[in-house]
Amino acid sequence: MFRVGLFVVVSAANSPVCECGRIRSERCLVWGPGLSPAAVLPVRYFFIQAVGSDGANLTLSPGEGTFQVKIRPLDAKEHVRIHVPPPLDRGDGSFLVRYRLYGTALKGLRVEVLHRDAAVAKSPYSIRGGCLVSPPPPPDRNSPCPRLAPGGRPMQCPAEEARAAADFEAFPTIDLRRLREEVPRRFANRGGLVHYAIIDNRLYRRTLGKYTDFKMFSDEMLLSLTRKVRLPDVEFYINVGDWPLETRKVDAVPVLSWCGSVDTRDIVLPTYEVTHSTLETMRGVTNDLLSVQGNTGPPWTNKTDRAFFRGRDSREERLHLVSLSKASPELLDAGITGWFFFRDREKQVGKAPLVGFFDFFKYKYQVNVDGTVAAYRFPYLMLGNSLVLKQDSQYYEFFYGHLKAGTHYLPVRRNLSDLLEKIQWAKDHDAEAQRIARAGQAAVRELLQPSRLYCYYYAVMHVYSERQVGRPARHADMEPVPQPDDHAAACACERGTAGGEASTRDEL
Ligand SMILES: *[C@@H]1O[C@H](CO)[C@@H](O)[C@H](O)[C@H]1NC(C)=O
Ligand SMILES: *[C@@H]1O[C@H](CO)[C@@H](O)[C@H](O)[C@H]1NC(C)=O
Ligand SMILES: *[C@@H]1O[C@H](CO)[C@@H](O)[C@H](O)[C@H]1NC(C)=O
Repeated sequence: MFRVGLFVVVSAANSPVCECGRIRSERCLVWGPGLSPAAVLPVRYFFIQAVGSDGANLTLSPGEGTFQVKIRPLDAKEHVRIHVPPPLDRGDGSFLVRYRLYGTALKGLRVEVLHRDAAVAKSPYSIRGGCLVSPPPPPDRNSPCPRLAPGGRPMQCPAEEARAAADFEAFPTIDLRRLREEVPRRFANRGGLVHYAIIDNRLYRRTLGKYTDFKMFSDEMLLSLTRKVRLPDVEFYINVGDWPLETRKVDAVPVLSWCGSVDTRDIVLPTYEVTHSTLETMRGVTNDLLSVQGNTGPPWTNKTDRAFFRGRDSREERLHLVSLSKASPELLDAGITGWFFFRDREKQVGKAPLVGFFDFFKYKYQVNVDGTVAAYRFPYLMLGNSLVLKQDSQYYEFFYGHLKAGTHYLPVRRNLSDLLEKIQWAKDHDAEAQRIARAGQAAVRELLQPSRLYCYYYAVMHVYSERQVGRPARHADMEPVPQPDDHAAACACERGTAGGEASTRDEL
């Protein structure tokens, strides 16, 4: 697994600078959810595509400081702290702009994108509405604002999430009475289980089992979600342990889990790892799904053409990687950085020093081998511009179904018997390898956007609610999970109340 804080972050400012002439600022493209009031996210973001004087997209970086972005409230009298780091250079002619609001801009925001003082695309942009201005006021002032989804499905969410649809096939109906009886009995002693109810968009829970610390991640996401959308009343169990639980083919009960497997019937949610990273972007977390996009190492031709792996000893094949690496160092550089599961083999295999995650992308090929379950680094590896060699696995995360072996990554047998051969193939077919790397990167950039994670949670809650039989309830032993003070019900819903809005955070 990709434990929070496992990798030391080293910033690598090694994007190439292209000498390909002037940028046509008005022909550049600017797009993304951060320009729409509908996407109320912890960190809002949008993209800039540099376009050259010939009208064609740049495909290499025109340099770090190519674009400047200024964001301020539309109403000049409002004072809102807005953190706008310089655009992240994605190394391929496109940039990612992130910004976090520390206050509510009641009228909205003005976003200016400049290239050497010239307006880029249709800059300046005005963002009016949404949390920033006008969600429909909720009936009860104390309830959180329905902000991501004024009037129904959250904007820009896909009509259907295929993985969720497949997961729910086994559950045409969800009998809550049976669920309450069976899930605790069968799974409470299997690690960590959290029983949640969302009633009137408020969150309640009780924990079952010994290892429930990771409820902080599910709490965090569910609270964030209920601050943005009105959720239907639902009652469900989240498994906060590593392994999926429901192995029954018939009479299965639905349990929500972070990792799925072909042998189980659990309903998959985005992992705590990508969820936390999304919520804490530009705050507690530095190697999140957005920043990794601006730290993908040297351009393809300058990467070391060897496969790379560093990680803990959480699965035996990882140790096998090290022997392959010792036998063929010209193809593979692999090392174990932390010993826990196979300590008795540490002496023989050796311990490698930690490597900053962004430094992985100095290598052309990245090896993804499962940990205890799916390796939660996979989305991050896919976002670099390296080719990912993925071990075949019964485990999957919520987005894997959108990716195709051979199109977005190279598959490798579970026992790794064809790994070296695949690396050699990539070396011999450089253009094709690069094409696959690019396709994988593009797909995951789209699939793992922060807005898509919310969409996915929302979709699961929604489909789940439709299948419930019986009435979801807050049970006597459930405690309320309060919204954090500093971004509770901030925003325009509370506009009618005296004072306060400006000092409360816009949050996500
Ligand atoms: C990439 O390699 C070329 C030629 O070897 C070199 O001129 C260039 O500086 C390198 N760029 C980076 C970003 O390392
Ligand atoms: C230029 O880049 C934009 C944004 O990535 C993309 O949508 C468009 O298809 C590209 N145009 C061409 C001609 O490749
Ligand atoms: C690895 O797995 C394949 C099937 O996927 C099998 O044919 C092969 O014999 C295995 N190799 C080793 C060394 O176990």
